[in-house]
Amino acid sequence: MYIADNNRYKNMKYNRCGKSGIMLPAISLGLWHNFGGVDLLENSRAMIRHAFDLGITHFDLANNYGPPYGSAEETMGLILKKDLFPYRDELIISSKAGYDMWPGPYGDFGSRKYLIASLDQSLKRMGLEYVDIFYHHRPDPNTPLEETMGALHNIIKSGKALYAGISNYPADLTKKAEKILKSMGTHCLIHQPKYSMFERWIEDGLLKVLEEEGIGSIVFSPLAQGLLTDKYLKGIPSDSRAAKPTGFLKVEHVTDEKIKKIRELNIMALDRGQSLAQMSLSWALRHKEVTSALIGASKVEQIDDAVKALNHLSFAQEELKRIDDILGN
Ligand SMILES: NC(=O)c1ccc[n+]([C@@H]2O[C@H](COP(=O)([O-])OP(=O)(O)OC[C@H]3O[C@@H](n4cnc5c(N)ncnc54)[C@H](OP(=O)(O)O)[C@@H]3O)[C@@H](O)[C@H]2O)c1
Repeated sequence: MYIADNNRYKNMKYNRCGKSGIMLPAISLGLWHNFGGVDLLENSRAMIRHAFDLGITHFDLANNYGPPYGSAEETMGLILKKDLFPYRDELIISSKAGYDMWPGPYGDFGSRKYLIASLDQSLKRMGLEYVDIFYHHRPDPNTPLEETMGALHNIIKSGKALYAGISNYPADLTKKAEKILKSMGTHCLIHQPKYSMFERWIEDGLLKVLEEEGIGSIVFSPLAQGLLTDKYLKGIPSDSRAAKPTGFLKVEHVTDEKIKKIRELNIMALDRGQSLAQMSLSWALRHKEVTSALIGASKVEQIDDAVKALNHLSFAQEELKRIDDILGN
C-alpha cells in the first residue's frame, strides 16, 4: 500500500495561479510521453508516486495522450485506484480536448459536441467524477469562439471540471476568450503555452495579456522535450525520446546548430552550480506570469533533477544576457 511522504509539502514552492484561489507547484508533471499503453506501468506508477512525494500536486493529461489515444488517462486511472485516491483532494488533475481524438467530424477541434463528449470519456478512463482543470487544447479557426467558450462554461457549471483553461491560444484570442467567459460568469484560470529557451513566442504579447487578465500559466516542454539537458551532448542515447519510434522529438530535430548552443548553455549551467535541465526550468520560471513549469519524465531521477531547480531560481542580468547571446537573440 502506498503512503505518501509526510514531508511532501516541505520543499516544494507553490505559486498562485493568476488571480485565483489555486496554488500550483512550481514544477508539474505531464503524462504526454511515458505513461501510455506502450509504456511500463510500474515505471509510470513509480514516477507519479515519487512526484507526489516531492510535493508535485499537479498532473497534466489530455484525451489523446498515449499511445494509444486515451491510454495515459487509463494509466492515471489505475494509479489513482491503486495509490492516490485517498489523496484526491490534494491533487490537481487536468485534461484537455482540441486535437484529433476519434474518427469523424466530432472528434477534433472545438465544437461543444466534441468538448463535452470528450470530457465524459476522460472522466470514465480516469475513474473520476470531475477534473480540476479542463482545457480547450488549441484554437479552432472554424468554430465560433462563443461556442467553444460556452462549452467550457457549461462544463464548469455541470461540476465535471472545477476550472477552465486554454492552450496554444495566441495573445489576441486569449483576450477574446476571457472576455466571453467573463460575460458568462466564468474566469479562464490558466493558459498552457509552449515555452523554453528555444521557443519564446509568449514574450511577444501573451505574458502581458495574462498579467492584465489575471490568468495564470503553466508552460509546457520547458526542456524542449529533453534537448535543453545534457542528454544529447554525446549523441542520441538509445533510451531517449528522440530514439523512440513513438516520441514526438525526432532525430532530425537534434541539429548541430542546436547542439552547439546546448553545449554552451551546459557550461553556463555548471558555472551556476546547476544541471542544464535545472537552469532551463529556473529560466522558464523567471516571469511572474509563469505559475508552473510543466515537465515530462521517463525516469524517477529526472523528477528529482527538476525539483532541485528550485534551489537556484534567480538570474543576474549578466546571466540573462549571456543566455540571450548564446541563443543568438
Ligand atoms: N498543451 C499542449 O499542446 C502540450 C503539448 C506538449 C506537451 N504538453 C504537456 O507538457 C508536458 C511536458 O512536455 P514534455 O514532455 O515535452 O516536457 P520537457 O520537460 O520539455 O521534456 C521531457 C523529456 O525530457 C527528458 N528529460 C527530462 N528531464 C531530464 C533530465 N533531467 N535529464 C535529461 N533528460 C531529461 C525526458 O525524455 P527522455 O525520454 O529522452 O528521457 C523527458 O521525457 C507533457 O507531458 C504534457 O502534459 C502540452
